[in-house]
Amino acid sequence: MYILAPSLLAADFKILGQQIEETERMGAEYLHIDVMDGTFVPSISFGMPVIQSIRDISGQFFDVHLMITDPIRYIKEFAECGADGITFHLEAAKDPDAVISLIHELGLKAGMSIRPGTPLEAVYPYLDRVEMVLIMSVEPGFGGQTFMPEAYGRISRLRRQIDGNGYRVRIEVDGGIGKKNVREVIAAGADICVAGSAVFKKRSISENISYFMKAFEEQEKKLESSFQTIY
Ligand code: DX5
Ligand code: ZN
Repeated sequence: MYILAPSLLAADFKILGQQIEETERMGAEYLHIDVMDGTFVPSISFGMPVIQSIRDISGQFFDVHLMITDPIRYIKEFAECGADGITFHLEAAKDPDAVISLIHELGLKAGMSIRPGTPLEAVYPYLDRVEMVLIMSVEPGFGGQTFMPEAYGRISRLRRQIDGNGYRVRIEVDGGIGKKNVREVIAAGADICVAGSAVFKKRSISENISYFMKAFEEQEKKLESSFQTIY
């Protein structure tokens, strides 16, 4: 039920293919691909050629997170190079409805993201149109930052808004997620956890991912038993 989305940004690019294969083998269903343009965020990461070259070694869901200004300009190209889902920033789009429509026309899942300082309510008008909302738990732009605890309240408020209205939208959380907080993040209501440093750094990828999988299983069991108590 819960999904881990390792963020490529923290991988070792010398052995990128090998590392991606390890994440897939260990059960990470998504691969989170951060695209930065140096304008919407200060940093520049990578783009289409990298995505295209890794497409044929992975069966994972390619979860492309566009941190770029005026994203509509590039949606088609990201679809062509192998994205399965495209998440864009509400703050960066002139016409968010047009971006969602284009993503859907190309047969992909649409995600909308907001910076930590953007009011959560800004995404509410789009909940009947997107498949995913990405809550940033750091200021977008760099990997390895510290999780902002204000994100917990935003995750649980969004969970209530989605469930209370019967929307079919997944919540993804991105930035600073690791051993210390993954349990709280999913307990607050996240479905998909992005993790860069916590997957690719320190210990081996396999050990790191096992920890996440264990935390996911435990939370799933907890939910099952609370369900049984109610009914
Ligand atoms: C930040 C990116 C994140 C980042 C996460 O702008 O959107 O996906 O790579 O990295 P960690 O898990 O190291 O915070
Ligand atoms: Zn990201």
